[in-house]
Amino acid sequence: MVLSKFVDELPIPPMLRPVWRRGGQSYYEVRMTQFRQSLHRDLPETVVWGYNGSTPGPTIEVESGESAYIHWINDLPEKHLLPIDHTVHGAHHDVPDVRTVVHVHGASVEWESDGYPEAWFTRGFQQVGPYFRKQVYHYDNFDRACTLWYHDHALGITRLNVYAGLAGFYLIRSEQERQLNLPSGEYDIPLMIQDKTLKSDGSLYYPDQPDKPVPGLKTSIVPEFFGETITVNGKVHPFLKVEPRKYRFRLLNAANARFFRLQLNSGQLMYQIATDGGLMEQPVGVRSITLSPAERAEVIIDFTNMEGRDVVMTNSAPAPFPTGDMPDGGTAVVMQFRVNRPLQHIDTSVIPATLSEVPKLLPQNAMMERFLTLDHHLDHYGREVMLLDNKHWDAAITENPRLGATEIWTVINTTPDAHPIHLHLVNFQILDRRNFDVASFQKTGIVTYTGESEPPAPQERGWKDTVIANPGQVTRIIMTFGPYSGLFVWHCHILEHEDYEMMRPFVVII
Ligand code: C2O
Ligand code: CU
Repeated sequence: MVLSKFVDELPIPPMLRPVWRRGGQSYYEVRMTQFRQSLHRDLPETVVWGYNGSTPGPTIEVESGESAYIHWINDLPEKHLLPIDHTVHGAHHDVPDVRTVVHVHGASVEWESDGYPEAWFTRGFQQVGPYFRKQVYHYDNFDRACTLWYHDHALGITRLNVYAGLAGFYLIRSEQERQLNLPSGEYDIPLMIQDKTLKSDGSLYYPDQPDKPVPGLKTSIVPEFFGETITVNGKVHPFLKVEPRKYRFRLLNAANARFFRLQLNSGQLMYQIATDGGLMEQPVGVRSITLSPAERAEVIIDFTNMEGRDVVMTNSAPAPFPTGDMPDGGTAVVMQFRVNRPLQHIDTSVIPATLSEVPKLLPQNAMMERFLTLDHHLDHYGREVMLLDNKHWDAAITENPRLGATEIWTVINTTPDAHPIHLHLVNFQILDRRNFDVASFQKTGIVTYTGESEPPAPQERGWKDTVIANPGQVTRIIMTFGPYSGLFVWHCHILEHEDYEMMRPFVVII
């Protein structure tokens, strides 16, 4: 279905107000419900899931160091909105169809509040998963100022819950950041970019079978889902009226599987100031930004002296990435900026020459290097199943870093796809990527490099929680495990992969 572009204004998600806040502590309540929301002017309203009646959910804004308590409440109907594959791990008929658990992506959190995939709960907490520990989650917000996001993480149905609408922004702010005088207030705008397929009655389409249906199954997971159209903050190809001045945009790829390569058709630079984990050392001027699912980049776009111009943000990332089809009419365009609002006051915000310190983690300080493969297999239905280090979700835990230990994880991608690899609890730095001979590795188990080691791109030189592991490459990351011990997960953030075995627990031990 072809939907006309730039007919709806960009919605800005509402800000979540705490129930109370005092002495550096705050308490919030967030309710998950099913409701209708307009995704496009020419379509009937869409039945979606969201938090506090909106998708994206309300933006949670906390101060660095604020001790926040959040009661996440499931008020969803008993029937799922989208087709469930009951053959997938954690989604068998022994559990209720509608299960939720919330993870704040990129936050460093005690494990009981981290949204472990088997810590799910149903409406009214009537049923809970085996790892459920508490109703009210606690966040210390030790992290520096950064753009995080919260989303559902229930085992075996994360792809469906997030696609139905369970995602929102979580921003950490700090005094250090305010001192920089970046564009702020109404000039600081989060952009949640997703791809969706909408039916003519407005409803969300999610496939119940792959292109080649699986014999013997009524519903089957697909290898990856790619939507036909792009939404930003829940609207199809919206426009935003801007003033001729600088804006700060927090770009988030919240798609199930689609990568985005974002660019402005004016040819102008975007000044990237932050990666997943907050401000970089200095801004980087870039013409395009590639974001895999879950990655964020914060940019300053300067519309000064552009009165009367329309600027379109485009997408040129193939799907699947990096060698799939190029985006078409519905997916090659993201949104439009209309420079047609009068300047309210002189723009005194700046793009500072230096932003923050990002102390380098040094490989010689690593206690341990783990070699972990990304693998491609077929299940007994002949479906693709991607694994981490050739292990299923249920296999015994093998990654058990010590609290406070620095480790290098060397990710060896033997599959034909790029995978966004995400670790809970920690921020890491990318050390390098290097081409290797996949065929000879599969025969001998020995990595033979076929190229030089490549440093991370300038846009990736900061704190990260998600890294693109390219096919045919070894990607090395370094991190220090802490400040919490306990049970966490690492996984591919292509939600169809994560839901079908490309996720593993890890435990930080004392
Ligand atoms: Cu965005 Cu495990 O999560
Ligand atoms: Cu993957």
